[in-house]
Amino acid sequence: MTDQLTVIVLAAGGGTRMKSKTPKVLHRIGGRSMIEHVLVAVGALEPARVVTVVGHQRELVAPHVSQARPEAVLAVQDEQLGTGHAVRIALEALAEAPREGTVLVAYGDTPLLEGATLVDFTASHRAAGAAVSILSGIVDDPFGYGRIVRDAAGVVQAIVEEKDASEAERAITEINSGILAFEAGFLLDTIGRIGNDNAKGEYYLTDAIGLARDAGLTVAAHAVDDALQTEGANDRAQLADLGRELNRRIVTRWMRDGVTVMDPATTWIDADVVLAPDVTILPGVQLLGATVVAEDAVIGPDTTLEDCEIGAGARVVRAHGQLAVIGAGASVGPFAYLRPGTLLGADGKIGTFVETKNATIGDGAKVPHLSYVGDAEIGAGSNIGAGTIFANYDGVNKHRTVVGRQAKTGSNNTFVAPVVIGDGASTGGGTVVRRDVPAGALAVSTSPQRNLEGWVLSRRAGTAQAEAAAAASGSAVADATGEQSENAPGLGDDRGERAES
Ligand code: UD1
Ligand code: CA
Repeated sequence: MTDQLTVIVLAAGGGTRMKSKTPKVLHRIGGRSMIEHVLVAVGALEPARVVTVVGHQRELVAPHVSQARPEAVLAVQDEQLGTGHAVRIALEALAEAPREGTVLVAYGDTPLLEGATLVDFTASHRAAGAAVSILSGIVDDPFGYGRIVRDAAGVVQAIVEEKDASEAERAITEINSGILAFEAGFLLDTIGRIGNDNAKGEYYLTDAIGLARDAGLTVAAHAVDDALQTEGANDRAQLADLGRELNRRIVTRWMRDGVTVMDPATTWIDADVVLAPDVTILPGVQLLGATVVAEDAVIGPDTTLEDCEIGAGARVVRAHGQLAVIGAGASVGPFAYLRPGTLLGADGKIGTFVETKNATIGDGAKVPHLSYVGDAEIGAGSNIGAGTIFANYDGVNKHRTVVGRQAKTGSNNTFVAPVVIGDGASTGGGTVVRRDVPAGALAVSTSPQRNLEGWVLSRRAGTAQAEAAAAASGSAVADATGEQSENAPGLGDDRGERAES
């Protein structure tokens, strides 16, 4: 099979300028590590094998690569002796070195790299019948890059590294992006012949170009017009720059695909997010992780959703959500906190100052105001009164509360789990539900209210409150029977209680 493709991703370098305990290629933008972005781009080539060369902090890099691309072969380069050495280690790590086909070399720190660019480059390499092809770029400031040296006829002769370049060569603005494609047989024959007799004392993979020319083989260079795709991030400032650029590209792509974004500058969308046409995103929104939003949903302003699923036509305003599923036509916020395991049914509502966790809220069910709903199930069509706490934690264990369908619970309730409130049940305001409420029952747990008539006049005499009370009684406040209220009962007076009984 002549078009078998092997990809080698170099990621053994240190990345000291990140000044981080996290290895450079594991720093994240757009919801993925830099090396994950590269591995995703590489995936577009459908390579027969992928080898990743790890070295620095490989105890962190290797498992990360294995998670992102389980079939990737890991090659360990203990000492970073140069890109040529790294590729040799990669080839040695393969049970069977590729004798035919193409070997593509890329770096693990170029997060803007796109699959289509690699596909085009590999196709051009094959079409040219080249021993080696360079993905090149023209840059304003070529400092630090390997320069592409051409002869008078424009034929590529060599890549000369910055430190080894003459003054004339340093003036060349055509550079090696770092991405190279090799004819596998040529690479195998050549990799052992690369020496380290140069300014850095490293084995330069780029020396393969000169060796190909010496052997009279074809070397091709294909210019990438989008130079940022092969740009690496070496420090946090560059990481942020690439992160902003990546986001700009992602947001632009979604707008082209029919998403309305009111303010692209304050909208952050991770690479793996999926949006339907006619989604609307208002300013200050972050859609992170594997979030999916269905058509006609309106998100924002000022909302963060991580790994959430938002149904068609749902409305999410000033909310923070994680691992939550919001049904079609449902409404969330303003000011809601959806914690993992929140499932809101179609046309349901999680309103203002409401926190939910591990809670299934049925179709059309509503938790409109000031509530905590943890470890709960609320049936379809039920309404939870303002200020309700699902007391799920007894200090040791978490317990579940189940509210049936079409239940209407009063304001300021506490549901002490485990407890079940039946279908169509009601609870009075202020009820503390400690025992199950049968279907259709009204639960009340508060003691009857006592009014201690005149209490303020006797106990708060001389205050503005008492003045207001006196003025009101002066204007003949009457009770329902038309009798004047009696004055100044004592604090322990229980006439109210008896009046009720
Ligand atoms: C390299 C190229 C240069 C090109 C530039 C593009 C060589 C000799 N030079 O230079 O022509 O313009 O990239 O950015 O290839 N790595 C290893 N093991 C090693 C050495 C490097 O895995 O022993 C990895 C690094 O982690 C990095 C990549 O290879 O991801 C490039 O290495 P680096 O040392 O940055 O090469 P440059 O000097 O920038
Ligand atoms: Ca570099």
